[in-house]
Amino acid sequence: MVDIKQIYAPVETEFDEFRTRYSQLFSCPNPAVDVLLKFLSRRNGKLMRPMLVLLVSKCYGTVPESAYHLAAAVELLHQGSLIHDDVVDESDKRRGRRSANAAFDNRIAVLLGDYVVSMALREIAATNDLRSVDSLSRLIGTLSEGEINQLNALNYPSLSEDTYFDIISKKTAVLFQCCTSLSALLSGASESDAAAFNHFGKVAGLCFQIMDDILDYHDSAETGKPSGNDLKEGKFTLPAIYALTHSNRDWSDHIKAVRSLSATPEQIRDITDYTLSNGGIDYALAKMEELKKQAITGLPAFISNELRSSFECYLELITNRSK
Ligand code: IPE
Ligand code: IPE
Ligand code: MG
Ligand code: MG
Repeated sequence: MVDIKQIYAPVETEFDEFRTRYSQLFSCPNPAVDVLLKFLSRRNGKLMRPMLVLLVSKCYGTVPESAYHLAAAVELLHQGSLIHDDVVDESDKRRGRRSANAAFDNRIAVLLGDYVVSMALREIAATNDLRSVDSLSRLIGTLSEGEINQLNALNYPSLSEDTYFDIISKKTAVLFQCCTSLSALLSGASESDAAAFNHFGKVAGLCFQIMDDILDYHDSAETGKPSGNDLKEGKFTLPAIYALTHSNRDWSDHIKAVRSLSATPEQIRDITDYTLSNGGIDYALAKMEELKKQAITGLPAFISNELRSSFECYLELITNRSK
């Protein structure tokens, strides 16, 4: 298992500074809202996206003020999208605790998610960089598009890896791309280096979602959110897509049942067992390995060995984590 300290060693001070600033954002003069923000601030995630912003920025020397605002904006946007995602997925657990929709209700969760997105917009505006405001605005649309496409896929009769990759590019990878490319631009990178970092972000994001989808086959006590939820929500992810499309059995009735949200527990177990014993997880792991190689070779040549090894560890952590 990767030691997370090894990743942020080059940005340890900056990461501490970020955490202090970030926690201070969770307050509001309106007590009804303040209660909700305090609820969120007791449930911090892994902060993978701000860490990436800081690492990229550090490649250019001192981390500018604007990069701290970008780091907060991407984490807030991520936070807002998770609050909404748990409503959409009817999920009652997040970060080992009750999700907002479970602790309050869907109405509060939708509004709280909006409030958090507005906090993200304030942070991105504070970068004073129109490119960042433009990219983040588009990003919010792309995230929704990914989640809408995912729901739309419930109407498809067959499974396709291309559709899966299109969905995860939009719902997850684009946010990682904003972390890397905008951080580079705010820190003084050339367009071509920003493009190289953008590619790293894309690959990291794809790997991140593939691993998240693998973790859905793990124990919920480990991941801090419900496991086995994807099939229950009608979602086929890479392990099952691979196993079922490389099978001699006809799975069309199972697929139809899962996607119409009417699968029996036996049908779900059948798909899960088949996926686990027919190389579904191994295939997804191999796919991440393939992607990871591209990410490392695509990094700009000038970055120091220390930072390069942080980026390598970052990818290792994404693909070897238990939550
Ligand atoms: C979960 O993201 C949502 C996905 C994109 C898969 P994280 O695993 O980064 O969630 P937290 O912020 O650490 O809880
Ligand atoms: C990722 O999808 C959620 C977003 C990108 C908003 P999932 O639905 O798989 O995420 P988890 O598993 O609930 O964290
Ligand atoms: Mg979900
Ligand atoms: Mg998931």
